[in-house]
Amino acid sequence: MTLQTVDLRKAFGGVTALDGATVRFRDGKINALIGPNGSGKTTYFNCVTGMIRADRGRVTYRERDLTGRAPHVIARAGIGRTFQLCRIFPRMTALDNVLAAVRPAGVFDALRGARHRVETGRARGWLTRLGIEHLAGAPAGTLSWGQQKLLELAGVLMTDPDTILLDEPAGGVNPALLDRIGTLVRELNAEGRTFVIVEHNMDLVMSLSDHIVVFDRGRPIAEGPPSVIRTDERVLGAYLGV
Ligand SMILES: Nc1ncnc2c1ncn2[C@@H]1O[C@H](COP(=O)(O)OP(=O)(O)O)[C@@H](O)[C@H]1O
Ligand SMILES: [Mg+2]
Repeated sequence: MTLQTVDLRKAFGGVTALDGATVRFRDGKINALIGPNGSGKTTYFNCVTGMIRADRGRVTYRERDLTGRAPHVIARAGIGRTFQLCRIFPRMTALDNVLAAVRPAGVFDALRGARHRVETGRARGWLTRLGIEHLAGAPAGTLSWGQQKLLELAGVLMTDPDTILLDEPAGGVNPALLDRIGTLVRELNAEGRTFVIVEHNMDLVMSLSDHIVVFDRGRPIAEGPPSVIRTDERVLGAYLGV
């Protein structure tokens, strides 16, 4: 069994971002988490990955209780994530950014010898797989927005996660790169990685997902395959505003 939360709650002052989110994602599948702006999707990712602490509720992953655990513990348990607003080091090269995912920034001098070669080889491998190997030596800040998103994903893949949470991977990305991201997610899923994708591009969500969870006001209001979600009246009301 994969990522699961029970009754997750998080308030920021008077704003209730998560209001009893009980969710079970599907192992080995491409899951989507959709919902209007402000419905708590990013907060959900933040709570699940230990970036912020929920006020209440439990997070379990593969039968293991991860509630309140630190981000590195959750990453080591096999959950990787990207951010809605990319997190990269703009002045460092693309390659060093990917390496930074497995080595804290600033300790590259200490990275010598065989281990360094192995990790550099893996980092280059991911850059190649993601189609941005020609940018390995470029400062990451000079990459396009879509390329930066791929770069961030390469860093996540360096940690070899079983489950990958993507926060708006298609946001602001041009159509050609969008296709590549869709293809990559399908391939990585076929290789055994589970995905949970927060995304507003409904074409992408509907074509990619096996299972969709719809949030409204901090909790799920519907879930199911795309064929069901597409016609669900609560979803149309809450999400599409009709
Ligand atoms: N760090 C924060 N401080 C205060 N309010 C926050 C914070 N993070 C999120 N919120 C609020 O929580 C609600 C849910 O936000 P968010 O999880 O970012 O939604 P989504 O990702 O679905 O757009 C929003 O009302 C947002 O303004
Ligand atoms: Mg968000």
